Amino acid sequence: MAELKFPAGFLWGASTAAYQVEGGIENVDWAQAAREGKVPPAGRAADFYNRFESDFDIAASLSMNAQRFSIEWARIEPEEGKFDEKQIEHYRAVFAALKVRGLTPVPNLWHFTLPLWFSQRGGFLHEDAPEVFARYCRFVVERLGSEADLWLTHNEPMVYSAKGYWDGVWPPFLKNPLRHLRVISAIAAAHRAAYRAMKEARPAIQVGIAKHNIFFESNWNPLNMLRCALSDRFWNHRFLRLIAGYQDFIGLNHYHHRKFGATAGERAAAVRSDMGWELHPTSLYHCLVGLKRYGLPVYVSEHGLADAADSRRAEFIRNAARSLHRALADGVPVKGYLHWSMLDNYEWTEGFGPRFGLVEVDYATQTRRIRESAYVYKQICEKNALVD
Ligand code: FCB
Repeated sequence: MAELKFPAGFLWGASTAAYQVEGGIENVDWAQAAREGKVPPAGRAADFYNRFESDFDIAASLSMNAQRFSIEWARIEPEEGKFDEKQIEHYRAVFAALKVRGLTPVPNLWHFTLPLWFSQRGGFLHEDAPEVFARYCRFVVERLGSEADLWLTHNEPMVYSAKGYWDGVWPPFLKNPLRHLRVISAIAAAHRAAYRAMKEARPAIQVGIAKHNIFFESNWNPLNMLRCALSDRFWNHRFLRLIAGYQDFIGLNHYHHRKFGATAGERAAAVRSDMGWELHPTSLYHCLVGLKRYGLPVYVSEHGLADAADSRRAEFIRNAARSLHRALADGVPVKGYLHWSMLDNYEWTEGFGPRFGLVEVDYATQTRRIRESAYVYKQICEKNALVD
């Protein structure tokens, strides 16, 4: 039996996002879209806003030492330029609850949902958007910057822009190739402005984004090789290049493998999650290696699967640990792994159907049940090693 050991101080934990778990958020574009019948309502979600302490008890009982969560912009700035100190105090309590349980916080400032006032004035395409976003980020780190070292500004800007401006299935429901490209640049500009503001307010903090990268490969047919190279360049690296020099670490969110020219047999043989997403055993490793060129510390900020029966999650987690270990051996400065997700939650247009949690949530009673696979993860967290 081999023991794959991880460096001391490696972060092991899980991830959530405010709108997906907190409940009671009504002043954002997604809630408005739900009222218009365009997406499912999030309602009380997992009631994490009121239950974060007992949920962090579970995280600590699973031997985790870190937790990623998001701060809801619309709670902090419900009206343009008006900041709500009571909500700052709420998130201060969240940080305190993490600290007493020995959980390193990894806060994220924007995870897809926009305050209604911001979305109604054109979202990130408004000319003032970078300053407005940076003002919010600065405000939060002025108040709470002493509570965490690692801060994320954006979650998955490429997914946000593709779903909202190209596929037209998420707010603002546009299918507009030109605006799609423009919004990517605009979000990058907002990140750069936020980075400057946050570092000015709190020079000691580390600022990054959570970047959704895909493992692209091809069957070596020249046309497929070209498609693969272009996809990698655009999807995986364009945004990171736009913010070059404005990030202290990279958060990697990883879920997908795409092989150009895959045979029908390969496609049929793939193990899949309840979302139909392929669970490729080494794709996380390949994505980590793809980030080595930036020379920055990397935290896996999301990686997970919908698996209501919990029949594939344990092996998925063990494969993740193997990928992390192999990437470390290859010199990628990986510093942590935050599984998606701590809890079952609202999966955007899919509503509450998909079950991504290490912990199952019964939404009718808000009771929690730890899934078996979470105990497999616990062994890794506890030992800071995978016994293979
Ligand atoms: C990611 C999102 C996260 C969650 C997972 C399944 O793209 O960041 O909110 O929906 O997918």
